[in-house]
Formats: sequence, C-alpha cells, structure tokens
Amino acid sequence: MSYVRGQIVGMAGYVPGEQPQAGKFIKLNTNENPYPCSPAVTLAIQQCLQQGLTRYPDPLATAFRQAASDQLGVPPDWILCGNGSDDLLTILTRTFVDPGRLLRMPYPSYILYRSLAEIQGARSQEVRFRPDWTLGADFVAPDPDLRLAFLPNPNSPTGTILRPEQVLELARQLPCPLVVDEAYVDFADQHCVPLVRECERVIVTRTLSKSYALAGLRFGFLVAQPHLIREMVKVKDSYNCDALSIAGATAAISDVDWLNENRSRIVSARRRLTQELRACGFTVPDSHANFVWCTRPDWELKPIYERLKNQRVLIRYMQYRDWGEGLRVTVGSDEQIDAFLALLRCELPASPSEIPS
Ligand SMILES: Cc1ncc(COP(=O)(O)O)c(C=O)c1O
Repeated sequence: MSYVRGQIVGMAGYVPGEQPQAGKFIKLNTNENPYPCSPAVTLAIQQCLQQGLTRYPDPLATAFRQAASDQLGVPPDWILCGNGSDDLLTILTRTFVDPGRLLRMPYPSYILYRSLAEIQGARSQEVRFRPDWTLGADFVAPDPDLRLAFLPNPNSPTGTILRPEQVLELARQLPCPLVVDEAYVDFADQHCVPLVRECERVIVTRTLSKSYALAGLRFGFLVAQPHLIREMVKVKDSYNCDALSIAGATAAISDVDWLNENRSRIVSARRRLTQELRACGFTVPDSHANFVWCTRPDWELKPIYERLKNQRVLIRYMQYRDWGEGLRVTVGSDEQIDAFLALLRCELPASPSEIPS
C-alpha cells in the first residue's frame, strides 16, 4: 500500500526540457539567453558572498521590490518575489484554487499549468486558441467552480501575443483572477503591468530567467494589488528567495542599459531566424518571445529533432494531442543560429517520403 496521495501516484508529473549535464551542445531548447548576464549581477553576488551566508535572507526581498518598483512604476508592496516564476505559479495555484475546483488555461500553452492543478487536486480546463491565436468566449465562460485562469503572454510554444486591451477584456469578463504569465514579455512591444491597477483580477508574473540571462539563478516576481499579495505571502515559503539570488536579481533589474541592448540583439536575431525558417518551408507565426515555433504538417518533425540532437544541436520537439506537432527553437546567438540552420538544411526532406521513419 502506498503512503503517497493517490492524486500524486496517478499523475505523470511535469517533464522539463532536457538539460544535458555532460558534453557540449548548441542549446536552443529551453529559451535561455545566449549571452552572459550583466556584469553588475556577478559583482553583487560576489559582494553578498563576502558578507557571508550565515543569516537568513530578507523574506520579502525588499531591495528587489524597491528596484522593481522604480522600473515598473508600481509600489513595492504590489510586488511578490519567487524562486523563479514557476514558484509563483505554484503559490498562485495554492492561494486561489481549492481542491476539486477549476483552473483554466489556453491550449496549446505552458504544460506546467496542468501539473499544478493536478498537484492541488483541482481540475483543469484547456481552451483552444482560435486560428488567429486569440481566445474566444469559451475562455471567459462562467463556471461556478472556476477559481483561476492562466494566460502566457507571449504564449509558449507559439510566441504569439494578445494586446493589453484584449487581455483586459478577458479579465473583465472572467469571474476569477487572470494570471498573465509574462515570462517572455521583454522581447515584445507591450506588457500588461498597467492593467493591474485598472482591474484587481489581473496578476502579472515575470521571470529573470530569459531576458536577464539568469535561468540558473532562479528568480521571478509578480505584480498584483496589495490585498492579494498579503494573502500570497501567507502561502509562500518563508525564505523562498536566497540571499545570492536577491542580490543578483536586484542588480539585474537595475541595469536597464544591459536589458535594452540584449533585447535588441535577440529581436534582430529572431527576425533573421524567422525569415530563414520560412524560406526552408516551415510555417512560423510572428514571435514576440525569444523563440520561434515551426510547423509543417506534411513533414515528420521528430526525426529532424533527433538527427539535430545526434549532431549536438538541441531544439524542442513538441506534440499536442489533437492539435499537432512542431519544433520550438530558442533564438540563440548569431553563431548558434548559423550552425543550427546549416545542419537543419541538410536534414530537410525534398519531399515527405525522403525522411525514413
Ligand atoms: C510560459 C512560461 N512561464 C514560466 C516559466 C518559468 O520560468 P522560471 O525559470 O522563472 O521558473 C517558463 C519557462 O520556460 C515559461 O515558458
């Protein structure tokens, strides 16, 4: 007999993208930034280390909240920090969704949302995007059990985005909080933080993993009205962010010049990557993130992914039930993109029959 909750035994568990620990790969599979972080981050972490790690960190990461407040124009008590934005998604689910109730998300989107609902013992409901990548009435349809909705914006794996006025319209119609997961928004032109003031149901999550090149540091934050933040503070681990990550993240968000320069490099590389992949014959929606989504229904995509992996180029193959499959490719450095495209071109079929199964 198992001591483990039946809910946990019965679930498959979220499988993160491959993180090979040995060998050298051109790694374009988990949307990391190809460039090193701001030098200010390294310096801040070194200074923090010199002070020692004997004391517990600040439970609310006050220094970061102040720095983020200066950048975003919301008061510090509207900000909650987390051990990566995945930690915040967990805190949100635990705060708002009773076991047995309903969590809603678009489809296809970030697969972790479904796992969070399962762990919580809640039900999840996936609402398909429309062909133009907007969401229809079914995303806001009333349901007495609905407790929370997640909306990645830009979306993963597609890189598509809803405009703030479209997001506000959804939030106004929903009977529950709408979490706008802005993990990739620094690579887009618009964001939804201003909506948090306009509508208490809008909560925005951010991460430093992508646009600040700090996936290994584990730091994210969310913006919500302060009465909601106070409830979420009760749910989070007391010390969910360590001293080194608070110091590094505070330095990162304060270095606006680094962010702007990095963003423009990635955005111009994204433009080139998109054009080249379309020229290869893929359908690629315009991306507002640091990755692109490639589909081509008459080609078998998994063998392409596998053969690139054998040549030490890692991209993400994704298959969504009754929706189709695709390849998600992170926007790497120019050199990484060149190497990827050169290998890819050798793997593409002249006709579908040329790819052996
Ligand atoms: C849509 C989305 N949200 C959140 C995350 C998690 O980011 P973090 O590294 O901050 O946990 C990811 C990571 O890939 C993501 O794709």
